[in-house]
Amino acid sequence: MDKGGLGLLATLYQYISVSRDYVAQVWKPHLRFRCSSEDSITLLLQYLQQSFILSYIHAIRVVIMSEFTTFTEGEFYEGHFDSRAYVKSFYSCSSGHADEKNYLTFVLRCLSRVFSAGKRSLSIESLSLTVLFFLNNFDTDVCFKGEHKGKRLIDVGSGPSIHSVLSACEHYDEIVLSDFANNNRREIEKWLKNQEGSLDWKPILQYVCELEGKSLSDLEATLKQRVKKVLKCDVRLENPFYPHTLEPADCVITSLCLEAACKDIQTYCRALHGLTELLRPGGLLVMIGVLGESFYKVDEQLFSCLRLSRDGIEEALRGLGLSIQEFNILPAEDRENNSVSDFEAIFHLVARKPSE
Ligand SMILES: C[S@@+](CC[C@H](N)C(=O)[O-])C[C@H]1O[C@@H](n2cnc3c(N)ncnc32)[C@H](O)[C@@H]1O
Repeated sequence: MDKGGLGLLATLYQYISVSRDYVAQVWKPHLRFRCSSEDSITLLLQYLQQSFILSYIHAIRVVIMSEFTTFTEGEFYEGHFDSRAYVKSFYSCSSGHADEKNYLTFVLRCLSRVFSAGKRSLSIESLSLTVLFFLNNFDTDVCFKGEHKGKRLIDVGSGPSIHSVLSACEHYDEIVLSDFANNNRREIEKWLKNQEGSLDWKPILQYVCELEGKSLSDLEATLKQRVKKVLKCDVRLENPFYPHTLEPADCVITSLCLEAACKDIQTYCRALHGLTELLRPGGLLVMIGVLGESFYKVDEQLFSCLRLSRDGIEEALRGLGLSIQEFNILPAEDRENNSVSDFEAIFHLVARKPSE
């Protein structure tokens, strides 16, 4: 199938995901003959809508993804990933994209909890997220004190974004940000140098400051001072920073990168191994990712995603000798109305490399 055909399928996917009323219109007249009350009609309709729409979505998703003859790897990002559209779409406010229902709030709060011992403001909104968090995390070894600090931190596959190191930045002296795509690294450099037309991270900075009782200008200045390099990386390589060899890091963070960069689970496990090799013994790996996602969209451009399960990730980490300290999951809400991705859940994990 050519690109036009793919575009058509993607549009159809979007159409079906949002057209809840369609099934109702078609089926309501038929149901009137068979149901005794309006309530039972409504119940039956809800059931039909859900099962019809979900099976359509699943079928179309399978077709769309099977038509990606090649997984959209790093090289594809160079020419097709619109860094500015990505940030506008997913990072223009602290809850993230409206279709992804509090994805970003969950991530920022998890990162803040891991790294910051700062003050917390418990608004009604944050309280409900906290409750949600605990409901989904009864097997988590929760640590509330921000007790992680060190000399070096590396963020692998930063994209054009700085949000994943905001809570950590004051606890590490030297921070390296990185990405495969040139355009992403350029956007970060522009922001670090306060160049005209650089991306606006104020809403995200503001949210983290509220969580941690900090001032926006102090946090921004700390981050800009601590980021020492923005490097090219390729997680498919044994040493992702080849030809450079980086000093062992106290902490490696990666967010939404490995599932976007690795076309199969073998590549994913090798990439995880590469990340753990960047850590000193006893160092900390902090990962943010998505479970069960097969694609995401930036504007109308589709990108593939490796479908991951919690068991698969845990097995890979244990296989590398890491001990998992936290594995937090936020299930996706209202999946059938998500037009920009199809993730089943978001995860945030903390794992430690064994000390020698
Ligand atoms: C979904 S974005 C995530 C960006 C950012 N970390 C975030 O959380 O928003 C995926 C990123 O992976 C990067 N990427 C794709 N293939 C890669 C590879 N082989 N090595 C390193 N980064 C890669 C892309 O350039 C893109 O910036």
